[in-house]
Amino acid sequence: MSTVGQPVAREPLVGRNEELVSVHACLAGGRHVLLEGPVGVGKTALARAVCGALARGFVRVDGDGRYTESKLVGQFDPPLVLERGYLEEAFLPGPLVRAMREGAVLFINELNRMPEGVQNVLLPAMDEGSLILPMLGEVRAAPGFAVVATQNPAEFVATGALSEALLDRFELVRLDHASEEDERCIVAANVTGSPSAALVAGAVALVRATRSDPRIRRGASVRAAIAIAEIAQHLPEAASSTRAAILRAALLALPTRIELADPHGTSVAGVLADLGERVGQEVAVGEPSAKKR
Ligand SMILES: Nc1ncnc2c1ncn2[C@@H]1O[C@H](COP(=O)(O)OP(=O)(O)O)[C@@H](O)[C@H]1O
Ligand SMILES: [Mg+2]
Repeated sequence: MSTVGQPVAREPLVGRNEELVSVHACLAGGRHVLLEGPVGVGKTALARAVCGALARGFVRVDGDGRYTESKLVGQFDPPLVLERGYLEEAFLPGPLVRAMREGAVLFINELNRMPEGVQNVLLPAMDEGSLILPMLGEVRAAPGFAVVATQNPAEFVATGALSEALLDRFELVRLDHASEEDERCIVAANVTGSPSAALVAGAVALVRATRSDPRIRRGASVRAAIAIAEIAQHLPEAASSTRAAILRAALLALPTRIELADPHGTSVAGVLADLGERVGQEVAVGEPSAKKR
């Protein structure tokens, strides 16, 4: 499914000023941009904010393994072809052709999940602003056409990396996890309900600790901190101990989001118990005198 047009009103982007400057400079220079970074780092949020701020329109496509070339390009409508022949009116343009004709940005979320054939269709469009369609002829890109795509780096994806040829058409903007302060703002902005500042700070501190613990191969993203804050405020522990609520919520939110270095060694619960201790000392979670770092 693709969506066209104006951005849905969402929480505004927190921080990412340097990345925004880079992306806008690339687009102003007529280049295509690939946003790369770990799962949950904020690639989609950044791309959405970029697209929403542009004077030109955008068309969004979400990558998946069963996406097809004809979905991206468009296809002839069989009944209309029978009625009128292979004419323009019988062609239902896909996101790529729409973006090219309108001089819009084609925002491809998780491009690396797209099958190779779909990736290949993009090459001439990105390179020469031209696409040859059987029975229809050439589609030329109007000024302003550009591709903004996101991908998870290779070690995070089970399937597919982008081809060298496709990478060669993109400028790369890498995203790393936001600062602790920004992550607190992101959690506060995205969580439903009204968690206390201590709860938000504790959830962020715990999640950040998963990224540097040697027993954890892949730590969690801010998305996990959002989940922890969201759950913890509804747990009975929240009334008496923010820290206990965070730890219980973390046991629900983290097992699916972290990868242990040795799955046969320490359990997630074991690691969390230790991290909880450390986080408790660092941010004095739940104490009225919460000392923020
Ligand atoms: N800079 C940011 N400002 C506001 N929300 C953000 C920011 N970065 C991440 N988020 C939020 O964190 C969650 C994960 O971000 P997302 O863009 O989906 O990550 P990715 O696409 O890299 O997997 C989403 O709920 C998103 O809205
Ligand atoms: Mg994403």
